[in-house]
Amino acid sequence: IPVQNIRNFSIIAHVDHGKSTLADRFLEITGAIAKESGESQVLDRLQVERERGITVKAQSASLKYVMNNTEYMLNLIDTPGHVDFSNEVSRSLATCQGVILLVDANQGVQAQTVANFFLAFSNDITIIPVLNKIDLKNAEPERVSEQLNTLFDINKDDILKVSAKLGTGVEDVLKAVINRVPPPSVNRDASFRALLFDSWYDRYRGVILLVYITDGMLQTGDEIASIHTQKCYEVKSLGLLRPEEEPCHKLLAGQVGFVTCNMRTTEEAQIGDTLHHKKQKVDSLHGFKPLKPMVFAGVYPMDQSQHTSLRSAIEKLVLNDSAVTVTIDSSWTVALGHGWRLGFLGLLHMEVFNQRLDQEYDAQAVITAPSVTYKAKLKGEKNIKRYGRSEISFSNPVYFPDPTIVEEFLEPMVMGTIITPDSYLGPIMSLCIEHRGVQQNSKNIDNHRVMLQYLMPLNEIVIDFYNQLKSVSSGYASFDYEEYDYVSSKLIKLSILLNGIPVDELSTIVHISKASVMGRRMCLKLKEIIPRQLIQIAIQAAVGGKIVARETLKPFRKDVTAKLYGGDVTRKMKLLKRQAEGKKKMKMVANIELPRETFIDVLKR
Ligand code: GTP
Repeated sequence: IPVQNIRNFSIIAHVDHGKSTLADRFLEITGAIAKESGESQVLDRLQVERERGITVKAQSASLKYVMNNTEYMLNLIDTPGHVDFSNEVSRSLATCQGVILLVDANQGVQAQTVANFFLAFSNDITIIPVLNKIDLKNAEPERVSEQLNTLFDINKDDILKVSAKLGTGVEDVLKAVINRVPPPSVNRDASFRALLFDSWYDRYRGVILLVYITDGMLQTGDEIASIHTQKCYEVKSLGLLRPEEEPCHKLLAGQVGFVTCNMRTTEEAQIGDTLHHKKQKVDSLHGFKPLKPMVFAGVYPMDQSQHTSLRSAIEKLVLNDSAVTVTIDSSWTVALGHGWRLGFLGLLHMEVFNQRLDQEYDAQAVITAPSVTYKAKLKGEKNIKRYGRSEISFSNPVYFPDPTIVEEFLEPMVMGTIITPDSYLGPIMSLCIEHRGVQQNSKNIDNHRVMLQYLMPLNEIVIDFYNQLKSVSSGYASFDYEEYDYVSSKLIKLSILLNGIPVDELSTIVHISKASVMGRRMCLKLKEIIPRQLIQIAIQAAVGGKIVARETLKPFRKDVTAKLYGGDVTRKMKLLKRQAEGKKKMKMVANIELPRETFIDVLKR
């Protein structure tokens, strides 16, 4: 296929605006899958994605489409829609010359639409605006077109209107891709160069690389090397994803395809890396922003006998999700034993990772409360000498430095964008203030909707902000954020004690203004989630040795068989067995049984 007949594009949209449905229609129209094969949302492969209805991992497909007697190859790069995964969006965009900006004609522009638009816009990518769900009786294509015009200066005549569900207008979108998106500008005569933009792990073939070839070509048997790791590999197989694998012998510049080369470990497949022929040196392609975890949490096996199996599950999952960083956590050996400290893009990313551990590897893990990375400027020559530097970083509350040696604490901020119907403006602004947000901007995007921008501490939004926002706006407000800077902040470590024993796994770093509110809230929450036990449990929150809150959990003898009369032994056994199974999900900490979700739930409302 000549380069001028190739189009590389992707669909970007806010969650649930219909990206997967539209992708399915594309697959049907181009014959990649049979119509009404019953396989809805073919590109969402993982079970987690199906359950939560979100796309976690970008998947791609090369589609054949004939227009005016010319055959085109349309490479569709699927991108995730959720705020946590905006990095995956940007790395997919590095391979694209065009995007379909898909907007629900009923919901209108949402926070992620804004973020995604600017991501594509700043990368100089052709944007095809498409309104979806025009079959809905409360669709308002006029109003939403107006929003696109107000916010992004998009010409209303350029906007396409479709129903991905019914297929209406979908073919026009493919035609627009061919007509409006330029073919990739690549050089097939140069020596081989490719951008590595995705990878996943296959038990038999090792790491599978998804690459975008920018120069020359690649054949099976070629010797390739990575600029980043300097390692060499022999290409074992190549092919296109349609979306099933279709092996071939050659991939040419402009194409997107998969490569296997006996690569064995995660570290070798660095997303954004440049591949080249072993003997021909090339310059590195500057791909996209490196993935950067924002939220860190400890992960531990339920008991130490599961340590090895959990480790191998984590290693395999990380192969499929290079956005997760892993370090060995040796600090919290007292209660939870040996574990790891994992870095995630956000809270949803963390929950999805945990769920995949459960579902795909049957590995049950205890995950501790997430934290962001803080900084501390040290006081005095002596301390600076001791640490070997004047500023230290930490995310684990265990490493919270002694405040007497700290000149100043710093915390990371984000710029949050909220789009909401104006009737919820009051409660949303209160929520933002409660989370220490400072309003930067507000703009009417039509007669009833407002876009707000707040500068907020990252730690205020990683836990539960999104859910609270949804709840105060009856689900109508949307939210997205981007990194900002570090600013000076008065931070303290809030410790939790169970029967007088400090449980580091439950401690957290908070702003001083929140110490007693958070302390009280955490104690109440723990009282609610810790099941009553044979002993009385005192739950206390403390700051620097001073108790700021306390709750007492009364003892309780859980005699589940007491209600049974007569001698039905099997029934009694069943009940006892169920009780024992309930226990298995518990984690012993400070001689107290804690449900394994405790460490995260304690911070939620
Ligand atoms: P993420 O993968 O989470 O980003 O979601 P998505 O954007 O891929 O959305 P998806 O395709 O899963 O669609 C979300 C919901 O909207 C589903 O229930 C679809 O059936 C529905 N939907 C998609 N397109 C249309 C449409 O044209 N009309 C109607 N009425 N519903 C649609």
